[in-house]
Amino acid sequence: MERKTIKDILADYKKILHHDITVQGWVRAFRSNRFIALNDGSTINNLQVVVDFENFNEEVIKSITTASSLKIVGEVVESQGAGQTVEILAKKIVILGDNFSDDLQKTILQPKKHSLEKLREEAHLRFRTNLFGAVFRVRSAVSFAIHQFFNQNQFFYINTPIITGADAEGAGEMFGVTAFDLNQVPKTEDGEVNFEEDFFGRKTSLTVSGQLEAETAAMGLGRVYTFGPTFRAENSNTTRHLAEFWMVEPEVAFNNLEDNIDLAENFLKYVIGYVLDNCKDDLAFLDKRFAEEQKQKPEKDRAKEGLIEKLENVIKKRFKRVSYTEAIDILMNSKENKKGKFQFPIEAWGADLQSEHERFLVEKHFECPVVPLDYPKDIKAFYMRLNEDGKTVAAMDVLFPGIGEIIGGSQREERLEVLKSKMQEMNVDEHELWWYLDTRKFGSVPHAGFGLGLERLVLFVTGWTNIRDVIPFPRTPKSAEF
Ligand code: 4AD
Ligand code: MG
Repeated sequence: MERKTIKDILADYKKILHHDITVQGWVRAFRSNRFIALNDGSTINNLQVVVDFENFNEEVIKSITTASSLKIVGEVVESQGAGQTVEILAKKIVILGDNFSDDLQKTILQPKKHSLEKLREEAHLRFRTNLFGAVFRVRSAVSFAIHQFFNQNQFFYINTPIITGADAEGAGEMFGVTAFDLNQVPKTEDGEVNFEEDFFGRKTSLTVSGQLEAETAAMGLGRVYTFGPTFRAENSNTTRHLAEFWMVEPEVAFNNLEDNIDLAENFLKYVIGYVLDNCKDDLAFLDKRFAEEQKQKPEKDRAKEGLIEKLENVIKKRFKRVSYTEAIDILMNSKENKKGKFQFPIEAWGADLQSEHERFLVEKHFECPVVPLDYPKDIKAFYMRLNEDGKTVAAMDVLFPGIGEIIGGSQREERLEVLKSKMQEMNVDEHELWWYLDTRKFGSVPHAGFGLGLERLVLFVTGWTNIRDVIPFPRTPKSAEF
């Protein structure tokens, strides 16, 4: 007898009508000692199992409670009741896992509304809720679509190191990696930590980005992408920052900035389109939840579009490309800026764009995704290509509604001498990055790439507001449970 997922049963029930099948799952509800709503995680939809209690002993019936796990053998029949097309008439029920009901009462598995804070504290149990089931199925679909997009476009998947000696972003936000006993750290004669005695014989950290290594791979393989965990020890307690997050970083030889923006736009549209086509049930659920959330807000803060509508519109509209200089003009002359509504007022060219400015451009001014480009060189990383004007670099960010920056990228500085002088200016150690500089010595070519924060994209497609809820086990300042 075949074991089927609930997703399969609901999709193909006509083929298996009046067959006996086996299903396994968790009880979401047990009504009138007769109807079990069973869920196995394969879909947001539950399967109804009908239990004729006269056929089962009392012990079994008593053990069928919310959250218990069951194996059921039964016949597939067309449902008599409203609300479902198919149900299973139970012939055999095996209780796989009972509940410790006193403990259960205290958890989020108890069927009632729980705060998101409480759901986060019990991240190990939240996979069992409709909400998080939907979010994590969508997250999985997003990851799959990312690989599929690159595969279809002849990119090679490269794994770059997680432990590294290089600070790719030069921002000094790295978590150190050491095998030292921290109570007895070896020191040099000058009293500094002697990393030569450490495991790797040098100072190492968790990577903030796979870009520099990906660039070296692109210099031989042409089109590559990385997709892995990255780590940042920035003390940002916001709804958009994690200390551990997943980044997708394509890097393409012979691409310039414009090619890079085209790639980013096509890529995002492909992945969002994939989710719209393949996650219909979960999106319908999230769409409803999104609408309910909007109702709770004051009218002026409500989203103009529903979740699914918003996703469809992003695919239809061309992203607005605008120079940083133009963006700063718009911001500087905005009513918001003049009336002091921004927490960080824009005073002059050269200011870094904060999330409030990004969202103003996207949500109020252009009303579509925006790609500012050619940023001042002083606010961007050392590896970005210096423009003719000598004061801007060939950088691009992609800004999304409700999120702000979702992608950051650039054309890279491929000219050895220019790169060296920028590294000097920005205090990036040439000796440490000797291998990176080598790629500019032997057949250097123009190239470009970007980084997408996976969780920011999942936030967008699920209509969620807090980044801690779209990664299974979030790591943030003062929090690393599980
Ligand atoms: O803009 P960032 O810092 O760019 C880089 O790291 C480049 N090396 C990428 C490249 O060109 N290959 O980060 C890229 C993206 C951001 O746009 C954002 O979506 C996400 O990574 N990101 C974070 N997501 C969650 N938590 C954080 N603390 C993040 N920091 C960046
Ligand atoms: Mg950035």
